[in-house]
Amino acid sequence: MFSLILAESSLELVPQELKNHPSVISHARKLGKVPSKILLDNSWHFAAMKGITNELKRGRPDLVHFSILESTTIPLFLKNKMNLYVHTIDDKVIRFSNDVHIPKSYHRFQGLIEKLFQEKKITSNNNELLSIKEQSFSELLNSINPSQTIGLSTVGMSTSYEKLASEIDQDTCVVVGGFQKSHFSESITKSFSKIYSVGNESFEGHTVVSRILYEYEKTIFM
Ligand SMILES: C[S@@+](CC[C@H](N)C(=O)[O-])C[C@H]1O[C@@H](n2cnc3c(N)ncnc32)[C@H](O)[C@@H]1O
Repeated sequence: MFSLILAESSLELVPQELKNHPSVISHARKLGKVPSKILLDNSWHFAAMKGITNELKRGRPDLVHFSILESTTIPLFLKNKMNLYVHTIDDKVIRFSNDVHIPKSYHRFQGLIEKLFQEKKITSNNNELLSIKEQSFSELLNSINPSQTIGLSTVGMSTSYEKLASEIDQDTCVVVGGFQKSHFSESITKSFSKIYSVGNESFEGHTVVSRILYEYEKTIFM
C-alpha cells in the first residue's frame, strides 16, 4: 500500500537529562503530571532545550499534530489506500489504524500521545487504533519494503505536486520531515531513491503533506 512517513518527527517525551530542569518541573507541575511523562515542547521547555543534540528538530509536537490531522482525515486514508507512519527523532514509530480519530484539540492530542508513550497502544473495542514501538527509520523502511522511496526536501530536484503524484504508485513510500527546521540526517537521505523539491521556499510540513496527498488522491479516485 502507498505509505507516507513523517521522518525524524519532533515528538518525544521529556528526555531523562532534562527532567530536572526548572522549566520542565514547573510546566509538569502546572499540568499535574510527572516531568518525564510529558511531551517535550519548545514553547514551555525552551530554556531546558538550549544546546541539546538536534535542538532544531525537537520540541514541536504541535507541528506533528497538524501533519497527522492532514493525513488521517482524508478519503485516501479513510478508504484504506494509504498507511501513515510517524518516525520520531528518538527512533520510535507510531502506526495508525485507518479508523482512528485523532483529536483536533491540541490539548487532547497531547494527552493521547503521552498515554500512547506509556501504554504502547491505544485500543477501542479490542481494535488497535494506535501503537508505538522502538524502530529506526531503516528498520521501518525494511518492514514496508516499498518499490521506491521518495524524499521531499528543499534541496531536492525541482518538480510540481502533479508531476510527483504521477510518479507515485501503490508501492511507493513518500517521506516528509516531521521537524520545523534543518534537513534529513545523512542516514535517512541515503535510503531515498529520489529527492524532490516542490518549490524554492521551505514550506510547513503539513502544507506539503496535504498537497501531495491530495494530488495522489486525485489519481486514485477521480
Ligand atoms: C518545515 S520543513 C523542514 C525544513 C527543511 N529545511 C527543508 O527545507 O526541507 C518540513 C518538511 O517539509 C518538507 N518541505 C518543506 N518545504 C519543501 C519544499 N520546498 N520542497 C519539498 N519538501 C519540502 C520537507 O520534507 C521538510 O523536511
